[in-house]
Amino acid sequence: MIDAYQTSSQARVNAALEHLFVAPAPELARLYEAMRYSVMNGGKRVRPLLAYAACEALGVAPERANGAACAVELIHAYSLVHDDLPAMDDDDLRRGQPTTHKAFDEACAILAGDGLQSLAFSTLLDPQLNTLDADTRLQMVSALALAAGPAGMVGGQAIDLGSVGIKLDRTALEFMHRHKTGALIEASVQLGALASGRSTAADLAALNSYARAIGLAFQVQDDILDVESDTATLGKRQGADIARDKPTYPALMGLEGAKDYALELRDQALKALQTFDTAADPLRALARYIVDRRH
Ligand code: IPE
Ligand code: IPE
Ligand code: MG
Ligand code: MG
Ligand code: MG
Repeated sequence: MIDAYQTSSQARVNAALEHLFVAPAPELARLYEAMRYSVMNGGKRVRPLLAYAACEALGVAPERANGAACAVELIHAYSLVHDDLPAMDDDDLRRGQPTTHKAFDEACAILAGDGLQSLAFSTLLDPQLNTLDADTRLQMVSALALAAGPAGMVGGQAIDLGSVGIKLDRTALEFMHRHKTGALIEASVQLGALASGRSTAADLAALNSYARAIGLAFQVQDDILDVESDTATLGKRQGADIARDKPTYPALMGLEGAKDYALELRDQALKALQTFDTAADPLRALARYIVDRRH
């Protein structure tokens, strides 16, 4: 089920994203090319899929979440461009291609990331992609800004970079992962639910429990794949965490311990959806996919 769902949802978000990288002036061609290169390069689109699936779980067609889906992927793409920079993880390969600073140059990659971040917010509010009322749009902007910013993803990245070579205990590792990766995944679900225009406080609370669990599971699985996958499958360098002495779940609890924990988090996520009917099946399938995926 997830394959067909993933293919159709990826096509939907890619069609919406495709229009965003037309340079408004010839002088900006290279910057826009670098942004396009960083986004239109075959990511799994897990965050847009979560936004669509959350909207569908509340009985609304996924197209309503197009603005949200584009916005979360643009923030994610920016985070990867900066994560790969020499000053951060210093990686040469991303999604099977040279990283943006390798294909262009460092300054261009920094600016492309900055540009993608701003573009996320203008796209979230693009009237063609988001027809919600002003109150809901404000809630969406606020949720995305909080998740992407220093109390969310950027904060997590700061902790990550400050933790190289340091042994974090379980509480500290979970805190880092919930920030660097979980926050944006939680926002993806929240924005998708808000995009439905009919989320109740109870819906949002249940969906938030789901998202908290899979948000952490996603990074646990990313850590696992860094150990046991290979560079060709991942499209990024396998073993990079070990080479850089990063604190990870396999380092903390062993590979089997980390795998058990990922499954436990998946089950927590499924449990959070108990009161939802079959409209939430794409969310259920995504929870399974996040811990089963091979890349
Ligand atoms: C990788 O994210 C970075 C993390 C936050 C773990 P993804 O595994 O979603 O990467 P793409 O978008 O599919 O390339
Ligand atoms: C990345 O974590 C998290 C963000 C980009 C916010 P990683 O550094 O583990 O991601 P990969 O493994 O390079 O994709
Ligand atoms: Mg990193
Ligand atoms: Mg990295
Ligand atoms: Mg990683």
